[in-house]
Amino acid sequence: MSSRINDAPQPLLEARGLTKHFVTGTALRRYTVRAVQDANLKLYPGRVTALVGESGSGKSTIARMLVRLYEPTSGEILYEGRNILGDKGRKALLEYRSHVQMIFQDPFSSLNPVRRIRAHLERPLLIHGKAKRGKLREQVNELLERVALTPVEEFADKFPHQLSGGQRQRVAIARALAVEPRVILADEPVSMLDVSIRLGILNLMAKLRDEQNIAFLYVTHDIASARYFADETLVMYAGRIVEGGESEQVIQNPKHPYTQLLLSAVPNPEKGLRTGVTEDRGEVPDLTQVGVGCPFAPRCKHVMDICRREMPGVTQLSANRWTRCYLYEDVAERETVAAES
Ligand SMILES: Nc1ncnc2c1ncn2[C@@H]1O[C@H](COP(=O)(O)OP(=O)(O)O)[C@@H](O)[C@H]1O
Ligand SMILES: [Mg+2]
Repeated sequence: MSSRINDAPQPLLEARGLTKHFVTGTALRRYTVRAVQDANLKLYPGRVTALVGESGSGKSTIARMLVRLYEPTSGEILYEGRNILGDKGRKALLEYRSHVQMIFQDPFSSLNPVRRIRAHLERPLLIHGKAKRGKLREQVNELLERVALTPVEEFADKFPHQLSGGQRQRVAIARALAVEPRVILADEPVSMLDVSIRLGILNLMAKLRDEQNIAFLYVTHDIASARYFADETLVMYAGRIVEGGESEQVIQNPKHPYTQLLLSAVPNPEKGLRTGVTEDRGEVPDLTQVGVGCPFAPRCKHVMDICRREMPGVTQLSANRWTRCYLYEDVAERETVAAES
């Protein structure tokens, strides 16, 4: 009862200061790719949080850390308030994945071409101990029903190549659902699908959010689809999450200059889902070069000296709305102090 004192619901999954540096190159020349720096996010039951940004901004790396495919360089991942990064070993991972599942961009490469759909759905049920004696066939049918692949028996007997991209993505969703997860991390789940069937997949995920109270992270480069599907939107640039809030507010009234630039490439979000909205937005920053300041500084038309020296902290704009940009801090004062010292 004591946890009810505060009305704010507890996040199901939370990232605190999540950071990932990849060291690549040869023995003679090493590079550090700062893929994700100090990422903070909270996922709640029955809510979709969109993580939006250009290709290479670090979105997949965040999702992969959250599902424990990548080990973070630093930071914490809390599931139901408990940091789970210390839980090592196969058993702990299996347990974690029974709560947190991931859906990948390419539904074809994530399915085994020589196995029937039935086998893809039986496997997680068996591995996670969810299979009920003598009920496996029914359980598979029920999963197919939930993702609207009917007639179910017919789909269960097919091979992945006999399905369309959208149908394969439905199988991937059914497979994720098999373990009865509470969190689904969907990494560009519709980017590789025909525009005409994207909405169907997003609607299916929205239904799962509403009916099963699943917490979704929706990773996308398409900010217009975030407005359609996500309750909350986080905007990412070059390894940093630079702005966040209710999707409607972020998209109608973007604060960070990068979000403003991103949205200026979307002529009319009302027109529905678009693709490649960021393709003509100039060069992607070199993540081996990003340093101490704001990574957007080199492209920002409002850039100030301080932007190049130090990453701005979080400025809370309203209860559920924030950005990391000096334009929204009392920057004049800081500049004076810096000049005097
Ligand atoms: N396994 C890896 N090893 C080295 N660099 C990686 C690896 N995975 C991702 N990166 C780099 O991290 C950066 C962010 O990549 P990613 O998270 O895939 O971005 P996004 O999903 O936003 O397109 C890119 O520069 C990418 O090349
Ligand atoms: Mg990606």
